[in-house]
Amino acid sequence: MMLHQPSPGDTAGVTKSRTIADGDLVIVYERIDAMKSYFVDAQKTYHGRFGLFPVQDWIGKPFGSRVYSKGTGGGQQGWIYLLAPTPELWTMVLRHRTQILYAADISIICMYLELRPGCTVLESGTGSGSLTHALARAIAPTGHVHTFDFHQQRASEAEAEFNRHGLGKLVAVQHRNIEEHGFPEELHGKADALFLDLPGPWKARSLALSSVVKSAEACLRPDGIFCAFSPCIEQVQRTCEALASCSFTAPRTMECLLRSYEVSNEKMVIDLSRAEEATLESRKRKRQTKETKDSRGRAVRAKTNGAMRGRDAAQQSQTPRADPLPGSESKDQHMGSPAADSVAPEAPEQAPEPASAAGAAPAAASAATAEAGAPEVKAVAAAEQRSGDGKVFQVLALPTADARGHTGYLTFARRLVEFIEP
Ligand SMILES: C[S@@+](CC[C@H](N)C(=O)[O-])C[C@H]1O[C@@H](n2cnc3c(N)ncnc32)[C@H](O)[C@@H]1O
Repeated sequence: MMLHQPSPGDTAGVTKSRTIADGDLVIVYERIDAMKSYFVDAQKTYHGRFGLFPVQDWIGKPFGSRVYSKGTGGGQQGWIYLLAPTPELWTMVLRHRTQILYAADISIICMYLELRPGCTVLESGTGSGSLTHALARAIAPTGHVHTFDFHQQRASEAEAEFNRHGLGKLVAVQHRNIEEHGFPEELHGKADALFLDLPGPWKARSLALSSVVKSAEACLRPDGIFCAFSPCIEQVQRTCEALASCSFTAPRTMECLLRSYEVSNEKMVIDLSRAEEATLESRKRKRQTKETKDSRGRAVRAKTNGAMRGRDAAQQSQTPRADPLPGSESKDQHMGSPAADSVAPEAPEQAPEPASAAGAAPAAASAATAEAGAPEVKAVAAAEQRSGDGKVFQVLALPTADARGHTGYLTFARRLVEFIEP
């Protein structure tokens, strides 16, 4: 289900060529931040935030369709999209049984592990199976993923999920403590790639195993690639030491930070072609306001100083300053920018379309724009259109407020083709 297997002559594209059947897994999209997985049951009604949806209506519709809820009088109310499940969407909706890897790290992992159809990949731990879905798709239809977790229930739940998602033939799940026993001997020399999301890749809990990295070395084919995800740099150091003591070369560690942008079409308060003129007008206004404030401040200070003569200086220092504080100058200038004064986007007039792929929220975008300086707004403005009444619309791309921070480090290394012990 997570894999699209086109039928011969299929040119319609991934979603158009697939229709929804009873029992299918769909990803119900209500908003970019409100998606959930749902197994289609034609007997049921889907209760969503935008109304009640008779599931029977979904059968036979192409994946990607928009379907409408039924109002009490039979009229239409809200709508949702029925999306085809993919590893990317699954990572966004899955039930977390552990911490999981997200799209940014997963993309780098699949790329630098050089995965392609037919590859054999080893993974530990399986966790919630977020990465495993992407590994399976990358090596399908002829490759194999062997994934290991020492937590019995997690391993069983993941296995059931892979089967339910149609990945059973590609993914084998085993309950095994990899730090204790290493990977099974029958996999020695069989892996093209190996991935660890374990607390201690350098560890070995038994005398027979000097480290998990050593076991990885035994499993990887010459030129195969190793990768370990570790949240802390100390773990990275120890993993690198273990790699250096084995036949690995070209180690490199990377941290992948993601910065998303919201793209939205905003109505501008003024014509951008007047931005320079508006900036000058705005600065003049600000200068005048500041001069008025300064002169009032001088008058207040003169009065206050007279009254306070002979009092405790510390107390005086708590008196609010009429002068601009260091740094407030730049704030004033910032506030005077056309972004704040002239080109702040208005709320869209039309009912907002569903959030864009990047999750556009017009209100949030407006707030972010109001904070941004004019040059930045101009830099990100990609296209400008003028409506019939002369109003200017601008496509804006603004960084989202929820930029992802540190998750961990990815350490890659390549198994040497030839290794001669010194
Ligand atoms: C952070 S989770 C992995 C998440 C996974 N990468 C994902 O994207 O869903 C780490 C998993 O490693 C498993 N684990 C920890 N130590 C282990 C060991 N020694 N052997 C096998 N699995 C282990 C845990 O049970 C847990 O499920």
